[in-house]
Amino acid sequence: MNILGASFITSNTDFRKCPEPTLAEYAFIGRSNVGKSSLINALTNRKELAKTSARPGKTQLINHFLIESTLGNWYLVDLPGYGYARASKSARREFSGIIRNYLTGRRNLVCTLLLIDSRHDPQQIDVNFMEWLAENNLPFVLIFTKCDKLSRTQLELQIKKYVSGLTEWFEEIPDYFVTSSESGQGLEEVKNYIGENLAYALTSHS
Ligand code: GTP
Ligand code: MG
Repeated sequence: MNILGASFITSNTDFRKCPEPTLAEYAFIGRSNVGKSSLINALTNRKELAKTSARPGKTQLINHFLIESTLGNWYLVDLPGYGYARASKSARREFSGIIRNYLTGRRNLVCTLLLIDSRHDPQQIDVNFMEWLAENNLPFVLIFTKCDKLSRTQLELQIKKYVSGLTEWFEEIPDYFVTSSESGQGLEEVKNYIGENLAYALTSHS
């Protein structure tokens, strides 16, 4: 799949106010600062499409982007980062409410892309989120981000360690992609994955 165009549509806190669910949709989620907005910009080849920040907690809304691709139009959604330690307790609860309502209520959602920093071991908050997705029958894949920050050898070891760590919690390991928004590694694979599912999703939503 090649991306031909990308434009910002709306920001919402309530999924019921999001655009009509007439196109297949893919949501990007993960801990605050994991690199969601950077990945969205890298995938769409737009520097400033999603706002990035060295300061965690930048994205606090459900942001819809319309993507025009060689396989048809679809929605890409940038979700608020969860687990932002410096957000107030009530703000954290609100984020998780926004996220949970959106993920369970949005019927055109095809797949959630859960971003994980390549340098980290499995963290309880991410595992909890995966468990919650699985319990709610919401399909997801893992996207390891910032892989340019590790050497090739370190990266291989770390991903192996992460995936084998997950077997403590899950019988079936989700599909995963190793990416860098800086170097572009893994971006083609992510686009192809979205494209493969899109063909099916577009027929079932049209
Ligand atoms: P919130 O919206 O706050 O939840 O953050 P986010 O997940 O959207 O993260 P964002 O894309 O804003 O990136 C956070 C920081 O990580 C920024 O300083 C980025 O420049 C940096 N970053 C993101 N992706 C990469 C990457 O692939 N490689 C490197 N080296 N840095 C990255
Ligand atoms: Mg962001």
